[in-house]
Amino acid sequence: MSGHGTPIPMTSHPCGPLNGVAEVPGDKSISHRALILGAMAVGETRITGLLEGEDVLDTAKAMRAFGAEVTRHADGSWSVHGVGVGGFSEPDQVIDCGNSGTGVRLIMGAMATSPITATFTGDASLNKRPMARVTDPLALFGAKAVGRKGGRLPMTIVGAADPVPVRYAVPVPSAQVKSAVLLAGLNAAGQTVVIEKEATRDHSERMLAGFGAEVTVEDTNEGRVITLTGRPELKPQVIAVPRDPSSAAFPVCAALITPGSDVLVPGIGLNPTRAGLFTTLREMGADLTYENERTEGGEPVADLRARYSPDMKGITVPPERAASMIDEYPVLSVVAANAQGVTMMGGVKELRVKESDRIDAMARGLRANGVTVEEGDDWWAVHGLGIGKVPGGGTCESFLDHRIAMSFMVMGMGAIAPVSVDDGSPIATSFPIFEPLMGGLGAKVERT
Ligand code: S3P
Repeated sequence: MSGHGTPIPMTSHPCGPLNGVAEVPGDKSISHRALILGAMAVGETRITGLLEGEDVLDTAKAMRAFGAEVTRHADGSWSVHGVGVGGFSEPDQVIDCGNSGTGVRLIMGAMATSPITATFTGDASLNKRPMARVTDPLALFGAKAVGRKGGRLPMTIVGAADPVPVRYAVPVPSAQVKSAVLLAGLNAAGQTVVIEKEATRDHSERMLAGFGAEVTVEDTNEGRVITLTGRPELKPQVIAVPRDPSSAAFPVCAALITPGSDVLVPGIGLNPTRAGLFTTLREMGADLTYENERTEGGEPVADLRARYSPDMKGITVPPERAASMIDEYPVLSVVAANAQGVTMMGGVKELRVKESDRIDAMARGLRANGVTVEEGDDWWAVHGLGIGKVPGGGTCESFLDHRIAMSFMVMGMGAIAPVSVDDGSPIATSFPIFEPLMGGLGAKVERT
């Protein structure tokens, strides 16, 4: 869990070239799903490359509470002895998902079609986030939810004893909602159908198929139609988790704005539903190349090389690309501040309900460091100053949001004066080795 301990103020100083190999940790989205589906399979799932960040460790703990045996081995691999679809037992403690929206929403889905009751809570950030987007479709299966005003945690879910399959059009672009419905559909006899207007990350669909579930995906006029046949016997898998493109974004963007840099991030997941940032950076003129493109464990993977890119230009990011880079807008805004001209980011209302209101959090910190930002309900625009021209010198609030803290640390690397954050402790939720990794490349990030 984050945000329960002492805040860790951090400062990032302007630095010389960043050079070397950045072995960023495993993908957060895939790690959560590997643990949850492993817990719903019969037998032992082995996982290598699991992200050992607080968010995922909270999900591992939760899977134990529902009856799965989850073990970390000395070599860093993990095994999950699953209890089968419909085999969850009722936890005897409150499930604390810490900072993780993905953890809580997916687990709620996974337990909502079993005749058990579970109470969920999280940290101050998670307890402010909307849960009705998940409990509304879960109610269609027959599950009941009682939470705080506005559908907030802490919240109790009473799973459906006789679940019925559902057909559900997801009203917001959200892989978490889609995945919660699919996981709930596992224990409902018949076909559960989820329709999404815009494609969001498809790790759940891929992994469900890998575990032996019958899943079909069709592109239709309505959108992407995903059909899952309920009550499969999930077969345990061997899963190699690729490195997280959302974590790779930080050393990559840092290299682009720091003179003389050349950084290689090996083995990162480049699933097209996740790779929007890299397309955008290339359109801005970033020197970014994919090497050794390959497929590993059903996911496209490549080595990504990023070099200092002094001539980047502001662009209008196509709104239809938003879902494929939704977690990367904070660090993109830092690159945008170092580009020439305005970068316009529209269709991003979802940024307001992440671990923080990410438009507000970034706009405040950018302004505190001399960058002009305009914003509306579902858009924002950063006025680029050009490479090396961001004044810096400000202190930013991280609002219990790992990506806000890391984005401002990246900003300090290419700014004129150091940039500080009030609390870097949330970084441990997704990128626990951020400080040594960035330090190893040549960054000067210190706890202050
Ligand atoms: C995630 C989905 C996205 C993303 C989050 C991880 C997932 O959230 O922001 O970091 O693993 O399914 P939404 O579903 O709320 O868009």
